[in-house]
Amino acid sequence: MKETSLKTAALTEEALRQALRALEAVAGPTVLLDGQGRLLALGAEARALLGPTSSPGQRFHEGFTGTEEELRTLLRSQREGLLSLGQPMRNGKLRLLRVRATALAEGNRSTGHAVHLAPCHVDPNSREETFQGLWTQDLRMRRLFRIIEKAARTEASVLVRGESGTGKELVANALHTLSARARGPFRAINCAALSPTLLESELFGHVRGAFTGAVRDSPGHFRLAQGGTLFLDEVAELPLELQAKLLRVLETRTVIPVGGREPVSVDVRIVAATHRALRREVEQGHFRADLMYRLRVVPIFLPSLRERPGDILPLAERFLAELNARGGRQVLRFSSRARRQLQEYAWPGNVRELRNVMEYAHVMGEGPTLTEAELPPEFNEQARPVRLPLAPESASASTGATRDIGIEDIRRALEQTRGNRARAATLLGISRVTLWRRLREAGGPSEH
Ligand SMILES: Nc1ncnc2c1ncn2[C@@H]1O[C@H](COP(=O)(O)OP(=O)(O)OP(=O)(O)O)[C@@H](O)[C@H]1O
Ligand SMILES: [Mg+2]
Repeated sequence: MKETSLKTAALTEEALRQALRALEAVAGPTVLLDGQGRLLALGAEARALLGPTSSPGQRFHEGFTGTEEELRTLLRSQREGLLSLGQPMRNGKLRLLRVRATALAEGNRSTGHAVHLAPCHVDPNSREETFQGLWTQDLRMRRLFRIIEKAARTEASVLVRGESGTGKELVANALHTLSARARGPFRAINCAALSPTLLESELFGHVRGAFTGAVRDSPGHFRLAQGGTLFLDEVAELPLELQAKLLRVLETRTVIPVGGREPVSVDVRIVAATHRALRREVEQGHFRADLMYRLRVVPIFLPSLRERPGDILPLAERFLAELNARGGRQVLRFSSRARRQLQEYAWPGNVRELRNVMEYAHVMGEGPTLTEAELPPEFNEQARPVRLPLAPESASASTGATRDIGIEDIRRALEQTRGNRARAATLLGISRVTLWRRLREAGGPSEH
């Protein structure tokens, strides 16, 4: 009888090595296990990852801290899972690996698994946590979660401050969900998105005939949020006259709809958010101090992604795992240059931008390695972007767009452009003269 099946025994060691090398080139570090979970062979990349102690014949699970049963479950599921290596790495940390198995079979008979491995960037020494949709391994963030839990149980007004995409809306949602008002409505209104007139009637409602087009009574967000939570997003953009009205509502716990006379009592908990420093807005006369104190009974400051660099790669991996789960491309790792670029980027749009960048790269590229070439254009430009101090929507709405560019923004821009003032000014969208003047006002270095 002619022997055509490729039995392992029939495969020379050299042929096996070559097959594994080809497999690793497309699927990353790979080991082959037999039906009993013993190591049949390791690719060179897998050997480098697992260390010299792993050798053929050894039972695979013994290299990890989990039990044999846990490994079996993971292999059977053929989904991505995490394993931590029993042997600490040289720096003393346990190493976490992301693991995904492909079943091998001859006909109907299972013969083992090909197991693909990838290092995982969650730092095992810091605890990770998912809180109401927010993931982090940053200690300050986790402290904030505890504050949010406590604040949620009270009626205190909370002011959430953070750059675009840092999770302000998720925090507002969490405050509602964890509160006694959870069964009541959650209403959100963006104070930057509407004209003052429209905003007033959206907030406080109007009566029929109050203005052209007011064909019927409208309750407004305060009354729609009755018994629940009202989220005032971008609250710093509220015009001064509406600030006065809002303060009145908060003090009297009643609203008077536009065109109406009778105050209507409201029972609403306020959560507000802004990307600006309200205190500075107060100093500059853009925001009422008394309203600020009303709103920021509990201030919550969400750090930017730049300020918690340890979250960048793990979050990127989590977004990739979600994208992988949709089928299609299976990204298992980053090229080392992509990893570096992700870590060094300024992330002006924070976690939202990170998710968008992963989505972009996931569709742009092919194969299991996400490379730097698949990152959006801003990553491959010489100068990395600086944080722009204005959210795009308010930048176009505001006439004094430069008023918010502070000395810190300028310093950061100068760092990014290695002291080139003309380029720093371009990045910030201000003139060189303005940049120079700001530096002089701040008593900063007139020469860089
Ligand atoms: N820590 C986090 N973990 C997971 N996802 C996050 C985290 N922070 C933000 N996100 C994601 O980023 C997106 C933006 O979050 P969110 O809308 O709460 O930000 P924001 O601060 O309100 O932004 P903006 O100022 O632009 O309105 C959300 O879709 C959320 O999925
Ligand atoms: Mg938001």
